[in-house]
Amino acid sequence: MTILLQGWQLGWLAAGPAPPVSPSSSYWELLNNPEQESTIFGNRARSAMDSNDYLIDYMRRMHETHTCEEVMLKMERWIAEHRQDPRRSRLRRLVPQLGNFFTSLRLVDAFREYDAVFALSRRKYIPPNFAELRHIVNIAQVVHASADAMKLITFDADGTLYADGSHFQQDNAMIAHIINLMRCNVHVGIVTAAGYPGEAHKFESRLAGLLETFRKLKLPAEIINRFHVMGGECNYLLRVTADTKSLEFVPEPQWQTPPMQCWKEEALLVESAQRLNLPISLIRKNRSVGIVPQTATIYEVLEDIALTVQNQLVSRIPFCAFNGGNDVFVDAGNKSLGLQAMMAFTGAMPHETLHVGDRFTLSGNDTATRDVCSVLWVANPEETGFFIRMLLKDIRRSRWQPYIE
Ligand code: IMP
Ligand code: MG
Repeated sequence: MTILLQGWQLGWLAAGPAPPVSPSSSYWELLNNPEQESTIFGNRARSAMDSNDYLIDYMRRMHETHTCEEVMLKMERWIAEHRQDPRRSRLRRLVPQLGNFFTSLRLVDAFREYDAVFALSRRKYIPPNFAELRHIVNIAQVVHASADAMKLITFDADGTLYADGSHFQQDNAMIAHIINLMRCNVHVGIVTAAGYPGEAHKFESRLAGLLETFRKLKLPAEIINRFHVMGGECNYLLRVTADTKSLEFVPEPQWQTPPMQCWKEEALLVESAQRLNLPISLIRKNRSVGIVPQTATIYEVLEDIALTVQNQLVSRIPFCAFNGGNDVFVDAGNKSLGLQAMMAFTGAMPHETLHVGDRFTLSGNDTATRDVCSVLWVANPEETGFFIRMLLKDIRRSRWQPYIE
């Protein structure tokens, strides 16, 4: 009888004695929030569908013929090669949809660290799943890759900092992390689809716990100035006022990039009216439209609607049609424009910028950021906390800044 072994199973055969694992290792927190249907979708529309991503799917398939460590070694090399020549790389041929990598990724080190806790290489029958591979890629991104050069970190709000439709409460673990990042000289931005034109108080109520902590700690202007909010994907930039620690809109000419100023429908209207000598008063409308189902539905229904709009809407200006988990929205602009504006505003280059979000599939509104900076894909706010703690430790190590838990 011949027994056929899959590639990753050979890794198990080759593995030596199990490495000692500290039961208190913080890695186990990742298991407290397993990426399972009940947790990944939480209050969201349910689905049996796993998340999908071209690169991670390819890594998963490689396990049919490679050990886990071989997959990481090859992928690490291919990414390095791809960074040299993205248009003609081997990785481009294997995964044609692939975008850019703005930093190198030490996947082998990240895998060994993760494997020491979760013993992936010792499993006999079950290769790594999507969430496990996503965790390893995230670890490679936060440890060493982004920490040294980091100037700007941006967070999606719903699903990343707090649960969908929720807001920042004072007990949110991310508050201390955000302040620690700012104290380490890093600009922190929140880049969210939620857009409230002219209503700074609505943004304030979503971030109430965070702003209250800024007030309590009497954070100086030097630190407060490193905090930014980009609403409506890329449509409204807000900053914190030094005295009352409330939010105010930053005047558009101070931050909008030239392409954004050109595609504004408003500019076209005003220009045309001026050309025709017609006096006008401008009526501003919200730059988004969305639908919220009134009965229980499933993820695939929202997905189908989002993709239909993506494929059929012909628009002169960039737009973002996305499945929000409980709704489908079409926003003018997208988060890649929001990130570009914020990077120009803070002087951060792509390799110095990291965006953390929960929606990186074809129908997600964080996906566009991949074009302009490195990203971290999280499944829920608890995972955000886990990876940011890891990042902070590395930043502190490289910059010798005090770290407050
Ligand atoms: P994000 O995850 O922080 O980008 O927020 C996405 C969610 O914000 C959507 O799924 C909606 O539930 C909500 N939302 C509120 N206002 C808007 C808007 O103007 N455009 C898009 N989404 C919005
Ligand atoms: Mg989100």
